[in-house]
Amino acid sequence: MSPELLARSGLGSLLDGATYRTGNPFAQWRRMREYAPVVWNEPDVFPGFWSLTRYDEINEVLRDGGTFSSSSGILLRPLAQGDDPGSDRTLALADAPRHTALRGAIAGWFAPRNLRMLGDFLDRTAQDTVRAAVAAGRTEFVTEIAARLPLDVVCAFLGIPDEDRPSIVEWSTDAFCAGTAGERSLAHLEILDYFAGLVEERRARPGDDLVSVLAGVRHEGELLPLDDVVLNCDNLLVGGTENVRLAMSGGLLALLEHPHQWALLQDDFDATVNTTIEEMLRWTSSATHLMRRATADVEIGGQRIRRGDLVVCWLPSANRDPGHFTDPDTFDVRRTPNRHLALGAGPHYCVGTQLAKLEIKAVLREFTAQVGEMALDGRPEHLDSIVVNGLRALPLRLTPAAPRD
Ligand code: HEM
Repeated sequence: MSPELLARSGLGSLLDGATYRTGNPFAQWRRMREYAPVVWNEPDVFPGFWSLTRYDEINEVLRDGGTFSSSSGILLRPLAQGDDPGSDRTLALADAPRHTALRGAIAGWFAPRNLRMLGDFLDRTAQDTVRAAVAAGRTEFVTEIAARLPLDVVCAFLGIPDEDRPSIVEWSTDAFCAGTAGERSLAHLEILDYFAGLVEERRARPGDDLVSVLAGVRHEGELLPLDDVVLNCDNLLVGGTENVRLAMSGGLLALLEHPHQWALLQDDFDATVNTTIEEMLRWTSSATHLMRRATADVEIGGQRIRRGDLVVCWLPSANRDPGHFTDPDTFDVRRTPNRHLALGAGPHYCVGTQLAKLEIKAVLREFTAQVGEMALDGRPEHLDSIVVNGLRALPLRLTPAAPRD
């Protein structure tokens, strides 16, 4: 079989969640970057789409929100499931000018001044969570640490009352980490139902929180419909917790598997932490793909893409493109420059970027300060999904750091 045919015929494996649970999609992405970087995939379970695997073309598509629209959905869905219910309604699935209005309303919450005020809360929470894990001598890092910290922060942003948080924690844990797809979607429905009640409450009595802000957003003079506000709240909860959890846990596993890199971070935390976080983001690339729909005929990578065609961008592939990164398959906590696409690019560039980095930093700081040795306490388990990739479980054994003089 010719290398090009081999690259094309392996594309189907990228559409199977099991590939990310048990296998290694990087060999397939490597073949596609080399022999079929922009290639059409015929409709089957999923609609037909152009598959993009190289950094340059993916960067070009993500930056051009005019030619490549998000409003009909940004994730591949089986044809049988129909349109994405969030189409043209949530921030991530809106184009300008609706996108501009929504983003303008919530962006202030993620501004540096606001995030600085969060600093103490983040440091305290990370300190307490890691201290408890070290005292216990072991932790299931994904659920007990990587999921908890971002969830606490998003709940605070959304103004979720303290007494409701245990339910949100329980539903979120099930929605992201439960064994079966049925359990996951049931837990997700509980979350949507909860937000419907909360939004109605905040419409009646607005507070100083993000749910109240979203409940008061007007587009073309009209308040957003209740369902749209609920979907946006849900997107913030999911976006704000799921990817942070995956980047933090996948990044920690990478540090565990590369003891020399871990030692570099421990030896000089302040000088190394920022580049370490960027490398964790590049390495984990937890958002597996982003999709767009062409609004005009356009040429990408020598292929003619027609108006209406879907385009799928494989982010982990872009972030291992040797045309853009030196030694892309090496985990290097001092890598500079590191202009990865793990947080997207262009108009939809992740609005939670700085927050995510602060959260990861808080946990890394506590790990380097409090943990002497860490080792696996069982096999890490990977998620079975084509949407996000990373760890479902990371059992660790921890010993305390020697007291400093
Ligand atoms: C390591 C952590 C994170 C990763 C890897 C990540 C990844 C991404 C990516 C790839 C996009 C671009 C989507 C697109 O272009 O269609 C995005 C957008 C977004 N992210 Fe994040 N994200 C992270 C953390 C967060 C956090 C902490 C929040 C909020 C609390 C958040 C909320 C959002 C929202 C609301 C959008 C949509 C922005 C828009 O459409 O204008 N994310 N994220």
